[in-house]
Amino acid sequence: MRRLGAHRFFAGDTRRREPAVLFSCPIGRPGGPPAQGGRAPAKNRNFIFHYPFAGTPCFLLNLGKPTKPSAQLKTRDEQTYEWPGGVGAGHSIVAYSAICAHRLTYPTREISFISYRGEKSAGSRFAQVIHCCSEHSQYDPAEGAKVLAGPAPQPLAAILLEHDPTSDGLFAVGTWAGSCFNEFFSKYESASPSITAGMPARSSRPAA
Ligand code: FES
Repeated sequence: MRRLGAHRFFAGDTRRREPAVLFSCPIGRPGGPPAQGGRAPAKNRNFIFHYPFAGTPCFLLNLGKPTKPSAQLKTRDEQTYEWPGGVGAGHSIVAYSAICAHRLTYPTREISFISYRGEKSAGSRFAQVIHCCSEHSQYDPAEGAKVLAGPAPQPLAAILLEHDPTSDGLFAVGTWAGSCFNEFFSKYESASPSITAGMPARSSRPAA
């Protein structure tokens, strides 16, 4: 399995050109087995997991086709980074923060204004995009979640994945462009105690 370097940074630190390598977290349903690259998630389905914090939702997507091998992207403060492409046997599995980079809309159990959509819709002129219907930002999951349309000032934060071909397991190991997390907690912490229930302090090692 490919191992990333030993750098360990706080996820919100976008001044660094290296990824924020936080900890290795097997991806799976709560209480269930880890997601298996190539078998789960099903193609074009939204699979939600939480990383790097217990209160920060992410999309795990199997796009059903290889992504771009890599993408050169920029954060809202003009820091460049290279997204390393999809993982798994078909290079089709990707993960991104599900927190919109515009005004931090995020999915809940009750309702989701932001999700991956395989088809075009009234508010989206693109198919196979992550679409936030708050103000219609659209992101391309096959190219690092770069912004295709709408007011979002930067791509969604990318979750770095490792795929273990021996076990077919998937692991979240870090983030790119994750500066939204502090802003997210500042905006919602007091309004929604469920976001922080059971989660560790933000400045400490996130929950596995
Ligand atoms: S919050 Fe997503 S487009 Fe505005």
